[in-house]
Amino acid sequence: MTNYGWIGLGNMGGPMTANLVKAGHRVRAFDLNPEACAAAAAEGVEIVENIAAAVLDAEVVFTMLPKGEHVRSVFDGPEGIWANAKTSTLLADSSTVDIETSRFCHEQSAARGFRFVDSPVSGGISGAAAGTLAFMLGGADDAVRDATGFIEPMSGKVIAAGAATAGIAAKICNNMMLFIDLMAASEGSQLAEHLGLDPQVFWEIASVSSARSWAQQTWYPVPGIVPTSAANHNFDATFRVDLARKDIGLALQAGIATGVKLPAAGLVREHLDALIDEGLADKDCSLIVKQVSPDGSVRGYLPESS
Ligand SMILES: NC(=O)c1ccc[n+]([C@@H]2O[C@H](COP(=O)([O-])OP(=O)(O)OC[C@H]3O[C@@H](n4cnc5c(N)ncnc54)[C@H](O)[C@@H]3O)[C@@H](O)[C@H]2O)c1
Repeated sequence: MTNYGWIGLGNMGGPMTANLVKAGHRVRAFDLNPEACAAAAAEGVEIVENIAAAVLDAEVVFTMLPKGEHVRSVFDGPEGIWANAKTSTLLADSSTVDIETSRFCHEQSAARGFRFVDSPVSGGISGAAAGTLAFMLGGADDAVRDATGFIEPMSGKVIAAGAATAGIAAKICNNMMLFIDLMAASEGSQLAEHLGLDPQVFWEIASVSSARSWAQQTWYPVPGIVPTSAANHNFDATFRVDLARKDIGLALQAGIATGVKLPAAGLVREHLDALIDEGLADKDCSLIVKQVSPDGSVRGYLPESS
């Protein structure tokens, strides 16, 4: 049995910690949101009242938080992880953050005698629940090797991406491709429907043809086709619009830093920004499909006010 410390029990952290408990481990966790805490407690996660209590005696601490600013605040300061964990504790951040935040965590951890691994994940809420997430790790070889063992109950595949920040760099590139694929599935699904194709038949054709993608298989934005699609639940979030906007922004930021031109990512950002301007930041990112329908209405979505 391993003692895990955990900060962040949201859509991802909740099911990930549930899998650790199912595998027989002890998880002490902290989250600011009482509802998230109650849901995790029902799965056997021990809820504690602050970060210090979560990291006390942990062999490994994972953070699963929305953005870089949350990660920095949870690690830093007198209430944070660095001030309260033992330096023998391995630290792993699985949030999707900017490369600068990840570098800050690596450098500041090393300066304080900690080992840190950037360990972002791919596979969405369904992968988190099934324990099949793909983890991509960046850091020193020994830290990555140890992190791999701790990750095992939550994962279908762990890949060592390289040195510090290589995991997060891979994640940023992956998610940029995902959201471009989602845009493609959105445009394809709407054009197919408006050309009179049966949505189920077209999805089956795409599934065995060259349009197949993870987005098309898992998030297809048409109701009644894919069980894991948010379109079956009025586009309630499995992956929120604002988090998708964050990820595409991280890719565009990296594009500016490297000089790589990313026109398709820029287009996705425009559409996500339009949804946020409409007050839909909390809905599922696959609602991007609304942007391409002729009149902004899509099957499976009823605006709150109607
Ligand atoms: N949802 C997905 O499909 C998915 C997939 C892969 C990666 N990610 C990434 O994983 C991270 C988490 O995603 P999520 O969907 O679980 O987000 P979420 O918003 O559902 O959960 C984040 C949790 O962090 C908690 N939190 C925020 N600040 C805190 C603090 N200072 N102390 C303690 N708790 C705090 C919130 O209360 C919330 O419960 C994000 O970086 C996201 O980009 C998400």
